[in-house]
Parts: sequence; structure tokens; C-alpha cells
Amino acid sequence: MEISYRLKNAAERRQQQFEPEGNVGFGKLRTDHMFVMDYRDGKWCDARIVPYGPFEMAPGAMCLHYGQAIFEGAKAFMHEDGEIYSFRLDQNAKRMNSSADIVCIPNIPEAWQVQAIEALIDVDRLWFPKQQGACLYIRPFMFATEDRLSVSPSQAYTFCVMLSPSGAYYGAGFGEAIRLLISKTFHRAVSGGTGASKAAGNYAASLRAGKAAAQFGAAQVLYLDATNTQIEEAGAMNHFHILKCGTVIIPTFTDTILQSITSRSIMELAPLLGCEVRQETVTLDKFIADIESGEIIEAGGFGTAAVVSPVGSYIFEDGHIITIGDGKVGKHIQRIYQLYTDIQLGKVKGPEGWVRPVPRSC
Ligand code: PLP
Ligand code: COI
Repeated sequence: MEISYRLKNAAERRQQQFEPEGNVGFGKLRTDHMFVMDYRDGKWCDARIVPYGPFEMAPGAMCLHYGQAIFEGAKAFMHEDGEIYSFRLDQNAKRMNSSADIVCIPNIPEAWQVQAIEALIDVDRLWFPKQQGACLYIRPFMFATEDRLSVSPSQAYTFCVMLSPSGAYYGAGFGEAIRLLISKTFHRAVSGGTGASKAAGNYAASLRAGKAAAQFGAAQVLYLDATNTQIEEAGAMNHFHILKCGTVIIPTFTDTILQSITSRSIMELAPLLGCEVRQETVTLDKFIADIESGEIIEAGGFGTAAVVSPVGSYIFEDGHIITIGDGKVGKHIQRIYQLYTDIQLGKVKGPEGWVRPVPRSC
């Protein structure tokens, strides 16, 4: 793929490595540039890196009416050698295409997606925040741009990648276990729907549930399946729990659960973690009984933004609360978090190809 460049002039661009004073937070900041590519006449074309800024779009653009839009979330890290390393971008590119299939958006070759992200990071590498626990959060997304009001797949799209210099997703960082609302009122997905994709509409649909969670003092909703019997996901994370023998259980992927790259990575890391990590159908009743009997000792969520988020308690819609263990961060979760972030930061060697240095153009 040939990429053209229209960069900000030297005076407008960041000139030195970004050294923020306070925590930069998650997703608030932008870098100087973005990658853009259009789809028209049946092909992806005009790959370019341009200054970050607004799109010009027709009011009838189909993404604005029918929500034909998808996104990904990935991260890049700075290692001790001062180079920036991306983490498993090939997996995000693959999932972008599977989301695209679910909402009828044309695929982009995985190699092009990775090339686009690496080229953008290279241009804006001085934006990497020099701060403990920081990263460049990578947000690739695609949306329908055709100006037409019939409900059918658009004939035109834009693919864009933007970068956000970021810190910890949860303000409190890893130190504090969160509470989840077990909701039988709100559902994230139904079989045959779009739950296995990162379709923008899935997140719009989660907002009302998120508001309800906040009213219960919970950080997010633990979603159940449509029959309210099985545990599915937690907000923008896969849910997991840990048995007293140390085994990690993640609900089996179905078409109502997003296949988390973090979850899949933790499964692959089982030999290094020295414990079993497996998937199974998790029924709510057994889950609760096993917490109460002490068979389940820890729980949490896996996700790119949230990394590994410990859960300390659950609240039901009738106000009943169940606490896991002492409600604090457990030692197994701490070990998983440590290994995973050590691999991302290049302190521990992970499986081949997981971290890749972002090539320098000069
Ligand atoms: N589930 C949902 C609904 C998500 O939005 C995310 C975030 O991307 C995840 C799970 C975790 O997936 P990953 O680990 O690939 O970021
Ligand atoms: C991610 O973890 O990258 C996500 O996409 C979650 C996001 C909705 C905050």
C-alpha cells in the first residue's frame, strides 16, 4: 500500500518527547496526525497521513443514520531501549475484518491495517507519553460515508486510525477492585446479532446499562445472556474468574461475546503462568454458589483499555451484594497483570511476534 503524507509544518508539530505532569488519563489526548483511507468504486484507495482534524461528511452519510461503523482498540508501548513496540496488531486487524463482515463493510488486508498504524506511530512517535504505565492507545475505525437513506450496505467508507497518548483506564489504576452490577434488565447482545463485533452501535446500546450501573455504585454491568442464566461479558471487557486451585475460567466465546485479544493472550500464556486457563459456559447460579462456598476466590475483566481489572464485588438489582474473598485484589490476578504488562513492556519475553518495534522511516 502506497501512503501519501501531508504533515503539519515543523512549528506546529510536537518537537520533543511528551512528558506530561499529571496522569494523562485514558483517551483524552490526540497526536498531531491521523491515517485516512477511502473506499469507493469497489476498492480501498487514497491512503494518506494528514493532520488530525474534522472530516467533511454529507448529512446523509449512512453511518450517521444506520450506525454502519466499527472500531478497534490496540496499544503500543515504549521499551527500555527507547523504541516504541506495538502489541499484537495483527490480531486487531483480523478482528476488524471479522467485525466488518458482521456489519457488511468491505475488508482491508490485515497487512495494510498494520502498515497504516505503524506509519502513523512513526510520524507521531514524540507523542509517546514518558510516564509510568503510559501507552499510545491506537483507535482504528471504519464508517459508512455514502449519502443515501435506504437501509442497505453503503457503497462508500472511510478507514481512519487515530492515536491517543494514554495512562490507566480506570482512574484508580490497578490498585482497586471494582463492583459490577448483575443486570437481568439490560442485555448487550442476542444470538444472531452483532455482539461478537466491535460495532459502534453495541456501545451506544450499553450506555443506558452503564448509567444504571453507576446508580448502583458499580463501575460496569456484568451482562447475562438473553435467558438471564449465563454470564457473558462485563462492560468493555471479557469476564473471568479464578478457582481456589488457581484455574482461570473465561466464558466460552459465542456470537454474543467479543473475542477479547487479552483473553486469548492469557489463554496462550497459561504455561508461563503455571496454571490452567480454560473456557466454559458459566451459569449465574453456579457462579454465585461457588463464590459463596469459597470455590471461586478472584474475578475480573480482560480488555485492551482496562488490561486486567480486578472485581471485588457484585450487586444485584435488588441491592444484594456478594463479595469475592476479602473484596480486594487477589494474588492470582496480580500475577496475571504483572506477566502480561511485563511482556507488553518488553521486560519478559512473550510468544514470538507479540511485540514488534515500530519501524523508523529514517
Ligand atoms: N468485550 C468488549 C465488549 C469490548 O469492547 C472489549 C474491548 O475491546 C473487550 C471485550 C476486550 O477485548 P480486547 O481484549 O481485545 O480489547
Ligand atoms: C478497548 O479495550 O480497546 C476498547 O475498545 C474498550 C473501549 C470501548 C474503551
